[in-house]
Amino acid sequence: MEHVLEITDLKISTLRGKETVPLLDKVSLKVGRQQCLGIVGESGCGKSITASALLQLLPYPLSVTGGSAFFTASSQARMDLLTLPPKLMRGIRGREIAMIFQEPMTSLDPIFTIQQQMFEALHFHYPHMTHADRMDKSLSMLRKVNIPRPEQTLASYPHQLSGGQLQRIMIAIALMNNPRLLIADEPTTALDVTIQMQILELMNELKETNDASVIMITHDLGVIAETSQHVAVFYAGHIVEEAPVNELFHHPQHPYTKGLLQSISSLTGDSRQLYAIPGIVPPGGSWAAHCRFAARCSHASGRCLTDMPALTEAAPGHFCRCFLHSQEVEA
Ligand SMILES: Nc1ncnc2c1ncn2[C@@H]1O[C@H](COP(=O)(O)OP(=O)(O)OP(=O)(O)O)[C@@H](O)[C@H]1O
Ligand code: SF4
Ligand SMILES: [Mg+2]
Repeated sequence: MEHVLEITDLKISTLRGKETVPLLDKVSLKVGRQQCLGIVGESGCGKSITASALLQLLPYPLSVTGGSAFFTASSQARMDLLTLPPKLMRGIRGREIAMIFQEPMTSLDPIFTIQQQMFEALHFHYPHMTHADRMDKSLSMLRKVNIPRPEQTLASYPHQLSGGQLQRIMIAIALMNNPRLLIADEPTTALDVTIQMQILELMNELKETNDASVIMITHDLGVIAETSQHVAVFYAGHIVEEAPVNELFHHPQHPYTKGLLQSISSLTGDSRQLYAIPGIVPPGGSWAAHCRFAARCSHASGRCLTDMPALTEAAPGHFCRCFLHSQEVEA
């Protein structure tokens, strides 16, 4: 399969005082053309920093401390996003790779109207577009994301709109320049279920009609089921399981993935008790040298408490980091 993005051994660290603290540990991922890769995991596992690193948007004192992320642009030029000079990155960001951020309010500027912000996004990449064309494009994108009164919305400032509307506007801006890769970080969390479905359908449509690929970041396996062909499960800064979506849902192998699946099935099943995986994700700086899930795992025993399992192929195309499925230790 042709890959639009190939991330190899990505490492991210932060500084605490003079100490370098790891936050992401040798993450490798591939995104196929016209495919959606889902990244799932609980809060603090490293999903958003992975996305920010790809666009060189990590906030200080976070930084990339290893790895590569090769992106194939629409011109077929292949480039490492992590080392791309800032000027070239500005041409990629927003046009070739668009991102929908977790927090819409932090991405829209409160002092400009929606029209000014949409026009600005278009102007940056298409400086010669006429006013009438910009207006047509902005209105049609707002209609696509189901904004009811697009003309009125264009004249509004962000504070005059609801969180759900702002999120849809962010999505419209991200899709406006037909990106080759869309990174969507919890894009539908603030939306009600009906709108959520419409937005996910819009993203699915985009893959086919615009030859785009998507990275869908979420804590919600339901969103993954609606959108993704391939899934990576993150836990405490690394991948613990990775597989095609049907394989992951029908034959989960890692105890953590099984726990995540159990927590969604108990929402829809007969069980009155909501299942939650006991314990919390250990933050960067307090990771064990052995299996990072051991403190929360009901199967933990013996070498789980001394060694770090390697990510190994448990079935064709299905990778898992657990001693129940392989005795291999991480090098
Ligand atoms: N600006 C920052 N300064 C210091 N640490 C940070 C910063 N941003 C993220 N981190 C740390 O990096 C780790 C990964 O954070 P990240 O935001 O990627 O998690 P996430 O998987 O996206 O979680 P969520 O589901 O809550 O969005 C966490 O331990 C977090 O505390
Ligand atoms: S390696 Fe051991 S502790 Fe870690 S997930 Fe597997 S069984 Fe649980
Ligand atoms: Mg996040």
